[in-house]
Amino acid sequence: MATSRHMALRCHLTSQKEEGGVKEKLFDHIVQCIAEFLDYMGIKGAPLPLGFTFSFPCKQDRIDKGTLVGWTKGFKATDCEGEDVVDKLREAIKRRNEFDLDIVAIVNDTVGTMMTCAYENPDCEIGLIAGTGSNVCYMEEMKNIEIVDGNEGQMCINTEWGGFGDNGCLDDFRTKYDIDVDGKSLNPGKQRYEKMTSGMYLGEIVRQILIDLTKRGLLFRGHISERLRTKGIFETKFLSQIESDRLALLQVRKILQQLGLDSTCDDSIIVKEVCGAVSQRAAKLCGAGMAAVVDKIRENRGLDQLKITVSVDGTLYKLHPHFSRILRETVNTLSPECDVTFMLSEDGSGKGAALITAVAKRLHSHGEEDVN
Ligand code: BGC
Repeated sequence: MATSRHMALRCHLTSQKEEGGVKEKLFDHIVQCIAEFLDYMGIKGAPLPLGFTFSFPCKQDRIDKGTLVGWTKGFKATDCEGEDVVDKLREAIKRRNEFDLDIVAIVNDTVGTMMTCAYENPDCEIGLIAGTGSNVCYMEEMKNIEIVDGNEGQMCINTEWGGFGDNGCLDDFRTKYDIDVDGKSLNPGKQRYEKMTSGMYLGEIVRQILIDLTKRGLLFRGHISERLRTKGIFETKFLSQIESDRLALLQVRKILQQLGLDSTCDDSIIVKEVCGAVSQRAAKLCGAGMAAVVDKIRENRGLDQLKITVSVDGTLYKLHPHFSRILRETVNTLSPECDVTFMLSEDGSGKGAALITAVAKRLHSHGEEDVN
């Protein structure tokens, strides 16, 4: 996203499963995306402030510093963990030596999403991403934040709720399919809630269930095809298509055939049921998390009723035919004292990072010391 003076670019890192020792490559790739963008906009020569949307867990004690805690969502570049990714980006910009960019802010996508909406709507105090990954940020009272001095005002907390359950507290709800998917992921034992609720994993859970049903002779005439053994065949977009109410069973069968799964009509009924159960559980779990967050904000403020807006982005929320409705219904059921409005935000994370960058830059240029 660019304005004449401030820029934040969202670079989609589509290549997954990078091997270790590739951090230079990774950041060089991001800089390559920036170079293409600057060329396209015709602003390569201008010195520009940059906001970096980085959708992974980071420790942050300054607005322009983010120490990567660990990769999520199937990414891996082991030598980045524990390092300041802003530094890595600065080094890559230097290596390229083609343009002059000042990295002013690093922003999690949830925070960017919340800021975009909050710019126009003061009720917006929560940012939700329900897409490839899952996460929430919200405005917390300073007096409740032990690790930061001061009691006045509020601060945005990136909950990284995807890691909820990593201490075992979700074990009663995890099935053998969840355990399988987790075990075969690049970060076993980590991001357990995310692995039950986000687009990256739902298709894999479905696949594990289908394999199990086939083994038990209930599907695909008991024959586990090579295709069904292939990791990642059920992308979220297929789940969305299969679950669409407009789709007749014959079309479901066609999709399965496109996926290389030779199915009978009964098979397609079962597959549709399985997809429905997995995505419904994901939406309900995500709704339960959101209900806890809005209720916490209500209790923080000692209110009987809270009116609040959640800015939300992510393919699962936007494209799945039922996810958003079930999520909203769950929040209404579990936190009836909260009147929660969900607002869709289109590329909110990039715009929000640009906004934060613009404000931080202005504070800097007005000589205010403490923008961190
Ligand atoms: C990351 C979060 C991010 C979320 C949504 C998770 O895997 O840990 O930082 O906000 O995905 O992109």
